Amino acid sequence: MTKARILSGVQPTGNLHLGNYLGAIKNWVDFQQDFESYFCVVDLHAITVPHDPKTLAQDTKTIAALYLACGIDLEYSTIFVQSHVHAHSELAWLLNCITPLNWLERMIQYKEKARKQGDNVSVGLLDYPVLMAADILLYDADKVPVGEDQKQHLELTRDIVIRINDRFGTPEQPTIFKMPEPLILKEGARVMSLSDGTSKMSKSDPLENSRINLLDPPEVILQKIKKTKTDSIKGLTFDDPDRPECHNLLTLYGLLSKQSKENVARECENIGWGQFKPLLSEAVITSLTPIQQSYQKLMNEPDYLQKVLSQGQEKATEVAERTLTRVQDALGFLKP
Ligand code: AMP
Ligand code: TRP
Repeated sequence: MTKARILSGVQPTGNLHLGNYLGAIKNWVDFQQDFESYFCVVDLHAITVPHDPKTLAQDTKTIAALYLACGIDLEYSTIFVQSHVHAHSELAWLLNCITPLNWLERMIQYKEKARKQGDNVSVGLLDYPVLMAADILLYDADKVPVGEDQKQHLELTRDIVIRINDRFGTPEQPTIFKMPEPLILKEGARVMSLSDGTSKMSKSDPLENSRINLLDPPEVILQKIKKTKTDSIKGLTFDDPDRPECHNLLTLYGLLSKQSKENVARECENIGWGQFKPLLSEAVITSLTPIQQSYQKLMNEPDYLQKVLSQGQEKATEVAERTLTRVQDALGFLKP
């Protein structure tokens, strides 16, 4: 029996943080054995806001190495770079011509990012979700594991599928694209900032202390957790709307120390921050140390990473080209 497919990706912008790990990559690792998985480094998405050409290539390698270091296993998964598979840009163009402009203008992430860019908003930033739809649809992905913030982009992808199948499906071939589903877990889907429990942990937050990066050394992690925003109430609880920081830190602790919410609630109901912070620090450091060691090893073997990405390119291209041809045929293009 063929396995269902997964596709997901992360942008090579800045450092990966605990939100990226718990919202996305950790789930990729946990699910990969049951699926045929494709994980790309979405470098074409990274240039939708002004970027530095001097660091793009290195950042792309860093993210690919982190995928491996976090536990992506090449026995089940393919790792590749989005720009190495030309079908992504090409399908994005075809989808562009079918996607209504007002669907894109409604996207929350676009509106938020556009506000930050002022006068400098590129067409690419608006078009970002169409390229993301192309990423997903090229691989006939059944499931797309992402954090909560990507839900609207997945709904757009699903709307594009309906529109294309309606317009170009025929009695012989009623579906051009398979309908993908989001895979968003409840816990970890929205990791919040360490400086403000009501806004999400983000690569673009100017406050470095608001996030823990996967490559932060232990002493930096200790400092960041020491400075994290808390309250003055003794006894730590989940789900109190007046204590968003408390909920976030307990959730992080539970996920990283692999304990259930009930266990964490019981362990922390009578303790204060002075006792909790060392527990959290230890859970974070214990989880990240093996990832960091494995990352360092990979960075010392550039030929290996190069080989992984070149094999990934080959495998991904084969699947993607097949889909692209199917779509070109459905849209009626003259064959070369
Ligand atoms: P990005 O950093 O925007 O490329 O996001 C990569 C992946 O991490 C996506 O699946 C996001 O949904 C996820 N992600 C980003 N920030 C968070 C967060 N604070 N909490 C949970 N998931 C997140
Ligand atoms: N937009 C996603 C993010 O920033 C990254 C992404 C691009 C993606 N293409 C994708 C995620 C395809 C899942 C599937 O988080």
